[in-house]
Amino acid sequence: MPHALETLRTHTPWPDTEGVRAWDYTLGGGGRELVDEIILTGKPKVMLEIGCFLCASAKRWLSLDPDLTVVGIDPWDDGLIEQCKRYVGRPGLTRAYPDMETQEQFARDIETQGPFLTALANLKGFEDRFIPVRAYSPDVLPALKDAGLEPELIYIDATKKADDLEVSHALWPNARITGDDWHWARTKGYPMRRTVNDFADKHGFTVTADHATWVLTPAK
Ligand SMILES: C[S@@+](CC[C@H](N)C(=O)[O-])C[C@H]1O[C@@H](n2cnc3c(N)ncnc32)[C@H](O)[C@@H]1O
Repeated sequence: MPHALETLRTHTPWPDTEGVRAWDYTLGGGGRELVDEIILTGKPKVMLEIGCFLCASAKRWLSLDPDLTVVGIDPWDDGLIEQCKRYVGRPGLTRAYPDMETQEQFARDIETQGPFLTALANLKGFEDRFIPVRAYSPDVLPALKDAGLEPELIYIDATKKADDLEVSHALWPNARITGDDWHWARTKGYPMRRTVNDFADKHGFTVTADHATWVLTPAK
């Protein structure tokens, strides 16, 4: 497995983030203590995160255990630039940065630095324990399996569709699967909640949830 991590590391070399401004801004919606607990008690050595954005959540996991390596999948494509511009003045970004000038600087930095460099600048000091995979899930997952990756913990925070869950579980049946978006889109009937519950029923898991976070545990 260390060999697998080394192989993956060479696929996306860490870019030079000297002078790049970091923004430790998360899109997570609370309840991540459930995942913290798994990291602190289960001591997984390798975690896979699907959907990293600016790597604020990855930084959280890495800060909890010096022996944890996180493999993070995200295309970090330019669509995130327009997305971040739309956050200016909205409640989420305003809570993090009440000052409007700071919010505008945030959006400008994402545009000029690019989402990928900005994300990795946020992980300064964790270069040896975060492996970025600039790709789309679930398409890239079989290639990660072929490279020898065996995550013990998987955190899904990307498309809100069932395929990330199904493919992750098919490839790594013993991995603990968790994710975000439990509380997302009440007006649409909480689609991720439905997806996770359907998956749990089909594969024999129980679901624990708190705010945005959900965790699957094998039913006894
Ligand atoms: C909600 S954000 C992730 C937030 C992050 N985990 C945090 O806590 O700050 C969703 C991310 O998923 C990424 N994404 C969208 N489609 C994806 C896909 N098919 N595979 C991997 N990542 C994807 C987006 O680029 C975006 O950065």
